[in-house]
Amino acid sequence: MPITIRSKLPDIGTTIFTIMSKLAIEHQAINVGQGFPDFDPNPKLVELVHAAMQDGHNQYAFMAGLPALREEIGKKTAALYGHRYNPDTEITITNGATESIMTTILALVGRGDEVIVLEPFYDSYVPAIRLAGGTPITVPMTPPSLLHPQYRIDWQRIRDAITAKTRMLVINFPNNPTGITLESDDLDALESIVANTNIAVLSDEAYEHIVFDGRIHYSIATRKKLAANAIIISSFAKTYHVTGWKIGYCLAPANITSEIRKVHQFNVFSVSSPMQPALAQFMKDPNTYSQLSAFYQKKRDHFTAGLAHSRFKPLASQGTFFLLADYSEISDETEVSFARKLTSEYGVTVIPVAAFYGNPDAPESNHHLVRICFAKKESTLDAALERLRRI
Ligand SMILES: Cc1ncc(COP(=O)(O)O)c(C=O)c1O
Repeated sequence: MPITIRSKLPDIGTTIFTIMSKLAIEHQAINVGQGFPDFDPNPKLVELVHAAMQDGHNQYAFMAGLPALREEIGKKTAALYGHRYNPDTEITITNGATESIMTTILALVGRGDEVIVLEPFYDSYVPAIRLAGGTPITVPMTPPSLLHPQYRIDWQRIRDAITAKTRMLVINFPNNPTGITLESDDLDALESIVANTNIAVLSDEAYEHIVFDGRIHYSIATRKKLAANAIIISSFAKTYHVTGWKIGYCLAPANITSEIRKVHQFNVFSVSSPMQPALAQFMKDPNTYSQLSAFYQKKRDHFTAGLAHSRFKPLASQGTFFLLADYSEISDETEVSFARKLTSEYGVTVIPVAAFYGNPDAPESNHHLVRICFAKKESTLDAALERLRRI
């Protein structure tokens, strides 16, 4: 007889990304849904990994990550954001940003704690909070309107959501899926909200190097008071076109890092060895990340211009490699149903923005928007555009 399982995540099924990617294969659709590049990383980086393997970096790495890599991350963060994290005690290499998120939340959140998450949100935050025994409190961003054709953060709603139980606030800018970024006055608002509280800020900055139109990335690390109680999470996945390598890191003050490492130690212990000396060497050259915004801006502009000849209305993307497109001129369907139809009937796979809401079927989660990933070769983008223009 099968044993009885009391699921810890009874309502969680296969993610929409997997479902849509499977549907894309079934219908031989062009997949501009899931967020990964369809081109290769810099061959120099691949050669460095190869060389590291030949040099014997094939056994367990240090638990907290290769010191040389932590050193380089520390230097880069100090140069870009002005905050000097100690590589020995404040920087930890993790299995992608995903492990940083899970490990941090497991380390800091417990039963009865509330964690505020801005909606729409990246899909791993809420399950992590629930596995830790905490309660996710979702605060919606203001959806785009005719007057403000962008998602916006409503800091007052965040303020109103805070209770004596609030333990953490999760933010993610540049934001997946909306493509919006932070401004300096957003950091002012955040600073005033968490000042003199016991609330940690988890800032997922996986897209820190992809911001457009001359914007700068306002990292939490640029503010001393915020950084004192913040965990900043980033990843090499998006920066170096290596989503399959699963190498990320988290930056946090020593008292928080020591708790994070306790969980990391028994969660994965350490992270893939040969990637670490390779990344440490590669990232010494700031051009490897400082050119990324221009690289993706070209793709964003190309795709946005291409949509002008379609019935989709693109929203301006300020950062990340995603843009949102409004399809209200084409259909009144819900986002999930429209996205499915787009794959099965028109051969283009996108992600419904409603999938980033707690309840994708609710009217409040549906704004006739789909997310398009433009981290693709020009030929892929053109092929997708050609199909989208036929609608
Ligand atoms: C906002 C955000 N955070 C974290 C991740 C996960 O990053 P990694 O692949 O390094 O685990 C992603 C990947 O799509 C993301 O979009």
